[in-house]
Amino acid sequence: MSVKTNSVEEASISRLAELWVGGAEPTEADLRAARSIAAKMGEFEGLKPFPAVVQSLVDYVSTPDFTMDRVGELIESDPALAARIMRVANSAAYRVYEGCTSIGRAVVRIGATGVVELAMGMAAMGMFKDLGGVGRKIRDHSAGTAAVARELAFRLVRSTQSSKLFLAGLLHDIGKLLMIQSGDRQYVELVAKDPSPSSWHLKERELLGFDHGQLGAHVLRVWNLPQPIPQIIASHHCPNAGQGSSVAVAQAVDLLRVADEIEWLLDQGVGSESLQVNRLLHSPEADRVGLTDTKVAELWDDLKAVRHEAISMFGR
Ligand SMILES: [Fe+2]
Ligand SMILES: [Fe+2]
Repeated sequence: MSVKTNSVEEASISRLAELWVGGAEPTEADLRAARSIAAKMGEFEGLKPFPAVVQSLVDYVSTPDFTMDRVGELIESDPALAARIMRVANSAAYRVYEGCTSIGRAVVRIGATGVVELAMGMAAMGMFKDLGGVGRKIRDHSAGTAAVARELAFRLVRSTQSSKLFLAGLLHDIGKLLMIQSGDRQYVELVAKDPSPSSWHLKERELLGFDHGQLGAHVLRVWNLPQPIPQIIASHHCPNAGQGSSVAVAQAVDLLRVADEIEWLLDQGVGSESLQVNRLLHSPEADRVGLTDTKVAELWDDLKAVRHEAISMFGR
């Protein structure tokens, strides 16, 4: 009997351990957090963010002999999705040197996987259309962070993962949006009392036992969003958490953390020579991605421009 109980407990612990996507081996505290997330996630299980066409795209590009032409055709079968992808392909965030006039060219420019990831990001964000006040601010911040993260990936480290960074930025605070949308009274009160987002994750950990990064990551995994996006998102409020992961994931976490901070600074109209920017430059993640005062001065206006454009693309 006790053997049976132990094996049930072990199975439950291993399920919780699997739920932990922080990157390192879960500690007892991580398992406690996973247990609270599991309880919370029940509320979001019925949500189906991906329309049939996005699901078909995901399935299709996972087959070994997919073609770019067929990816284009699938996207064109949904005119609203096709229009948004064209907009992104022609945006400054995707570094356009000449206009992109067809879905076929957009697929080639962004790459088939990049296009599918983008479609998933748009569909997930599309769930939060009717947000007011603080929810809309978070959605705009997410779009801005996506563009800044992609620009930094491209300009600082010439990362080949810049499309992934765009998606990670777009979805990094989805846990906050889910909590707000679920109408959790305590959470809404917490958010209403403290409009400054820099310490939300600490208060969430106190109130819920986990933060919005961890919650968002788990929900995205349930929605079949491929790794490493959930892993990057899970770690975005854990300094140095990415360091135990692969080089690409660690770098993506650093870039996302820097982009997250820069987006808030741009939102407040802060200049590139401000005290806040100087403080960011002294952070370990800024150091690791090579963000220096010279680089900030060189990039600031471009970051402002891509942020502004992304907010107008995903907001309203
Ligand atoms: Fe966050
Ligand atoms: Fe954020």
